[in-house]
Amino acid sequence: MPSSLFTTIDLRDLTLANRIVVSPMCQYSADDGSANDWHMQHLGSLAVSGAGLLMIEATAVEQAGRITHGCLGLYSDANEAALGRVVAACRRFGNTALGIQLAHAGRKGSAQRPWEGGRALRAEDGAWLTSAPSPVALDEGWPTPHALTAADLDRIEAAFVAATRRAARLGLDLVEAHCAHGYLLHEFLSPIANKRTDAHGGSLENRMRFPLRVATAMRAAWPAEKPLGARITGTDWLPGGFSVEEAVVFARALKAIGCDYVCVSSGGIVPKAPIPVGPGYQLELAARVRRDAGIAVRAVGLLAEPHQVETAIASGQADMVAMARAFLDDPRWPWHAAEALGAPVRYPPQYERSRPTLWPGAKLARPARAAE
Ligand SMILES: Cc1cc2nc3c(=O)[nH]c(=O)nc-3n(C[C@H](O)[C@H](O)[C@H](O)COP(=O)(O)O)c2cc1C
Repeated sequence: MPSSLFTTIDLRDLTLANRIVVSPMCQYSADDGSANDWHMQHLGSLAVSGAGLLMIEATAVEQAGRITHGCLGLYSDANEAALGRVVAACRRFGNTALGIQLAHAGRKGSAQRPWEGGRALRAEDGAWLTSAPSPVALDEGWPTPHALTAADLDRIEAAFVAATRRAARLGLDLVEAHCAHGYLLHEFLSPIANKRTDAHGGSLENRMRFPLRVATAMRAAWPAEKPLGARITGTDWLPGGFSVEEAVVFARALKAIGCDYVCVSSGGIVPKAPIPVGPGYQLELAARVRRDAGIAVRAVGLLAEPHQVETAIASGQADMVAMARAFLDDPRWPWHAAEALGAPVRYPPQYERSRPTLWPGAKLARPARAAE
């Protein structure tokens, strides 16, 4: 049977060569939001992976919207120029479509890089004032965020629009709003973080208001022929938290404003929640949103084995599959999946001679790896 994973998918005028997506992955390695040689080699390597789409990491729309001092941003001309250099290299040598995830960290900002501990920054390390829908700290040891005012919301909406325009100027193929993992737009959606009593709190309609306003403004600022998506949370995994039923309603509302797909992730609104982590543990959430909201869905989360990923697409649970850690482990994942599934995949010509059909060494190398 021909592979479903290795079939094309159309999102507006963009055709992805296959359903494999490199999930957005923060690198915490930028200089005041500007990409550098780390991003050049990281994205450069993934851009020759043969994936249908490479997502650039969560990219802050304003300086205070970064998670750490190392987060990528698209809030200045310098950020735009630095990313432009990386995008140009990916275009020159790569074979993937290029998307970017635009984000605001909200109350999860002003943090140490994960390898520095991931805790809230101390004043002497350059902490900044974070903001959120409500003055509710993420956890013990985290500062109380500033509750956003109407003027703040105007400013943040404008920042999402400005970053979207910068992404358009860079010629990126797709833009995605980060509405998951406990960052600002998710904080509005989740009753755990959103305690407002105004038009932005309480009912789901009110909690969706600001994320939908941002997505609508991004859609208007983004070329009509190019796809816009959102990463949403399928559930907070907490009583009284955002639920899959609410995710379906949110996905429908996103579709209605011209959003072309949602990536269904979960968790992150607080550091600790009872998440049943296991192979494909978010797949059911993706399938539910796809079925009930009628929007294209990208699944993610411990999907790494080629036949498992193939089944997720072939069975109609998802339209695309994103992988993060599997790509860090094996940036040639699509080549090896194509081999396992008997499907065609693009190699850069420079690396063509490593195709298993041209290189008997493949037979020697793979079993050794599998046996590790
Ligand atoms: C190093 C790293 C950085 C990440 N950064 C982001 C990010 O920028 N935006 C995002 O939505 N998710 C981010 N994630 C989550 C992944 O995109 C993905 O949803 C999660 O790792 C589950 O997929 P996996 O099992 O294939 O790794 C990150 C994950 C890793 C491992």
